[in-house]
Amino acid sequence: MSTTSLVSSPAWKALVAHAPKVSQQHLRDLLKDGKRAAALTLEHDGIVLDSSRQNATVETKKLLVALAKAVDLPKKLKAMAAGAKLNTTENRSVLHMALRADAKSRIVVDGQDVVADVHAVQKRIKAFSDKVRSGKWQGATGKTLTDVVAIGIGGSYLGPEFVFEALKTDPVCAKAADGRRLRFLANVDPIDVTRALDDLDPETTLVVVISKTFTTAETMLNARTLRSWLSKHLGAAAIAKHMVAVSTNLPEVAKFGIDPKNAFGFWDWVGGRYSVCSAVGLVPLALQYGWKAVEQFLAGARAIDQHLLTAPLEKNLPVQMGLFGVWNSTFLGHHTRALLPYCQSLMKLAPHIQQVDMESNGKRVALDGSVLPFAAGEVNFGEPGTNGQHSFYQLVHQGRVVPADFIGFKRSQQPVSLPGEPVSNHDELMSNFFAQPDALACGKTAAQLRAEGVPEALVPHKEFPGNRPSHVLLLDVLNPYTTGQLLALYEHRTAVQGFIWGINSFDQWGVELGKVLAKQVRTQLTASRTAAKKKPAVVSGFKPATTAMLTHYLAD
Ligand code: F6P
Repeated sequence: MSTTSLVSSPAWKALVAHAPKVSQQHLRDLLKDGKRAAALTLEHDGIVLDSSRQNATVETKKLLVALAKAVDLPKKLKAMAAGAKLNTTENRSVLHMALRADAKSRIVVDGQDVVADVHAVQKRIKAFSDKVRSGKWQGATGKTLTDVVAIGIGGSYLGPEFVFEALKTDPVCAKAADGRRLRFLANVDPIDVTRALDDLDPETTLVVVISKTFTTAETMLNARTLRSWLSKHLGAAAIAKHMVAVSTNLPEVAKFGIDPKNAFGFWDWVGGRYSVCSAVGLVPLALQYGWKAVEQFLAGARAIDQHLLTAPLEKNLPVQMGLFGVWNSTFLGHHTRALLPYCQSLMKLAPHIQQVDMESNGKRVALDGSVLPFAAGEVNFGEPGTNGQHSFYQLVHQGRVVPADFIGFKRSQQPVSLPGEPVSNHDELMSNFFAQPDALACGKTAAQLRAEGVPEALVPHKEFPGNRPSHVLLLDVLNPYTTGQLLALYEHRTAVQGFIWGINSFDQWGVELGKVLAKQVRTQLTASRTAAKKKPAVVSGFKPATTAMLTHYLAD
């Protein structure tokens, strides 16, 4: 469907007409309805999703589902799962669901069963990680490789780090990781090298270079830096034992000097930001936590994939999350959204979802290249609660309206109960989790403040307008399975929104221009740094402001 047809469709127009009606209804009043929570709450496989604090009614939900049907959302989801080349600008399938598909299933792309390929690589990762963890694969000096530095950036870093942090304090994973360390090196800033290598011994360090293309400037310079660190301490021959790779570009891996036998492949149908379930995430995670944890993580993601493809739209968690995203952004005009996990282990969820969502849906044109008549994508940000409360919640309560996702757990990975304290530490955390969505939704009126005797001059400052939308997600406990569920929920939320908007959520042309300009600067810096002191190279070919700044930089 073209964008013109989309915005002139009865389903779209009905939502446009519906928005002002809903905007007039305050959540404070809507939430008085005892049946509302039940009508707008879904439960699936241990996850409770409460949409009752959205600026929406049961009618809104019906209209959103009608829009999803009008754009053939179920057909698009099925096409994605079957390997259709939905990434039209790169002529690629979008098959991250195949990365966690059951070994018995079959998905054929260009005559090749990709599920068989996925499981063949998984088998190699399991064998390799078992060997390293058990000490059968040793470093050049015969020591067990207890430490891993995973080099990669963007999708080759954010997802693995999110999962790594999520599982670090899971008791079973912590035990499996006993005596092992996993570090990430992403930024090309040399400071990041120092931080990643802090306290590491080359003799016991394995470096995993993760790059889909194996050409990303930041990753390749970091890889060369660590190759030189290893060679300096252990000799060039040690590279074979201390460096492995994850890539789709095995010829470049070989050129770099890593034996392709020590490389774990994936495929062009895995988008970088959707790659955590490929070798990109599985190699570092299996090395750190062992294969069992990895299997459970994949099982959680697979369970949500099945749910996405089989549950009716009204009861489909990621579909509902995506539809409310479209509602808040396109029809109610909120262009920002917050991810607020009440769980410290989800500290890297927001940075990962920033890339998943903003690189996917931060687009200006529809699939046919026509400029969108609405803004697609949202600005995503977030912090674990309660840290966020002491940071940006002021703005969220009394400044701008920021739709938020509150994510909480019934049980803590690391429970603490102190004698004499009224509640356990986790209950204390969760008291905030349950309070904040209501504070945002209901606010506090001037009348309430006056009744409390608040001085008149302070009333406007202490008033909370409320009517601020949020989702509340409650899960059992954060473990490998629920981490997989969360990952898939948010990946699919993004895809659902992209399908509704009619954009390509799977390319990322917007990152290219900066790379090209950086190349031009690099060429200038090379010329300037190598020129003789007496005859400095002329800074040229830039905008006057850039020339001036570069001149300052080079004058040091
Ligand atoms: O940021 C642009 C991007 O292409 C991302 O999409 C990707 O995840 C990242 O760079 C890293 O790319 P690669 O895995 O090829 O090094």
